[in-house]
Amino acid sequence: MTLSQADHDIADLSLAEAGQVRIAWADGQMPVLRSIRERFERERPLDGVRIAACLHVTSETANLLRALIAGGAQAQLCASNPLSTQDDVAAALVADGVGVHAVRGESADAYGAHVIALASRAPQITLDDGADLLSVLHAGKEAWRSALIGGTEETTTGLLRLRALHDEGRLRCPVLAVSEALTERTFNDRYGTGQSTLDGILRATNMLLAGRTVVVFGYGWTGKGVVLRARGAGASVIVCEVDPLRALEARMDGCEVMPALVAAERGDVFVTVTGGRNVLAREHFERMKDGAMLANAGHFDVEIAVDQLAELASARRQVLPLVEQFEVGPQQRLNLLAEGRVVNLAAAEGHPAAVMDMSFANQALCVEHLARHGAQIEPRVLPVPPDIDREVTRLKLQSLGVLIDELTEAQRDYLTSWRGA
Ligand SMILES: NC(=O)c1ccc[n+]([C@@H]2O[C@H](COP(=O)([O-])OP(=O)(O)OC[C@H]3O[C@@H](n4cnc5c(N)ncnc54)[C@H](O)[C@@H]3O)[C@@H](O)[C@H]2O)c1
Repeated sequence: MTLSQADHDIADLSLAEAGQVRIAWADGQMPVLRSIRERFERERPLDGVRIAACLHVTSETANLLRALIAGGAQAQLCASNPLSTQDDVAAALVADGVGVHAVRGESADAYGAHVIALASRAPQITLDDGADLLSVLHAGKEAWRSALIGGTEETTTGLLRLRALHDEGRLRCPVLAVSEALTERTFNDRYGTGQSTLDGILRATNMLLAGRTVVVFGYGWTGKGVVLRARGAGASVIVCEVDPLRALEARMDGCEVMPALVAAERGDVFVTVTGGRNVLAREHFERMKDGAMLANAGHFDVEIAVDQLAELASARRQVLPLVEQFEVGPQQRLNLLAEGRVVNLAAAEGHPAAVMDMSFANQALCVEHLARHGAQIEPRVLPVPPDIDREVTRLKLQSLGVLIDELTEAQRDYLTSWRGA
């Protein structure tokens, strides 16, 4: 299908061929989504449904759109972050007839206009990563939201905004919280962030982790993944926590657990992943060893107090493209990675396609659920139905060729009866 000029706004259509290669590579890492696409092709559960997606315009997202379109949807796409747009992928999608409105590095005005371009087509189902599309739909003309059946949301920040919209009594459709699905937590946070955080640290420094002491701040979903992979690389791991249960969990998992001020003297590499602020600050920097590396994997660049580090330092210089060295004392040089920004994105490539496979499989099944049942669901932020989580894991196991047992009827009866043996 050829699109008219008004149906898209991208950087350069001639990049389409390169984009197709990139999309095909990601497809090879996304067997779960692929199997959903094949079923959608047969069953067409989204026939004629108008879908608007405000997501990172990447090869993985392109494969999600391919699945939705295979299911019969009419899909449009704009960016949820202007910096992550892959222009060649946008071009490949447009060449395949998808209306894409995204240009890498676009201005805030252009970004806003692109979100409005999607909203003004009165979508029935939305996909968001940060809630920009649903926010614009709710703030804009009544006609834009007249056909809304439901939406999905990919991040915590987006859910916060949508819950606030609901609390004001203004949310017009159900929204499924994909970022809180168990598969998402496990794969995205633990395995995705765990591996890519280490990847970012290694790409930035090319250091050997074996034999080093890595201090991880926060033993939540993401912190556990960072710890797992750091230990796998041969590092000794110290965990700093403020939650007693998670601190105990870290101890029982075999990590040393101690207050941050004590750990500051012991660590070679420090990784913050708490969601909090000033987790590493002046009093910690002052105690650190010469050569310590500081990295943040939390969402915002506020976990390492870079301003305090700068105040403390007598000199600073760029020693590698992604490493800045701060001279704190005569024999104390501290190395800040990627300016304290989220290291797996700033120094590596974020989550691998195999992780996005699980997230986007959830997205595709949630869209199908909304198309079938959205009109009967009350307008609020809701968990992903457990059946969808289970189906995504079943398909993933199938793609890995892993077989598991099933309960016998007698076992199921026992587990569901109050009578006991
Ligand atoms: N880099 C990525 O790709 C990526 C992916 C997912 C989440 N995140 C971000 O990582 C951060 C953590 O997410 P999560 O899902 O693991 O959250 P979580 O709530 O499961 O875990 C955070 C943990 O940090 C602990 N904590 C808070 N303040 C602390 C402090 N000052 N010192 C020590 N521990 C402290 C909490 O007690 C909690 O156990 C968030 O900012 C989240 O947005 C990043």
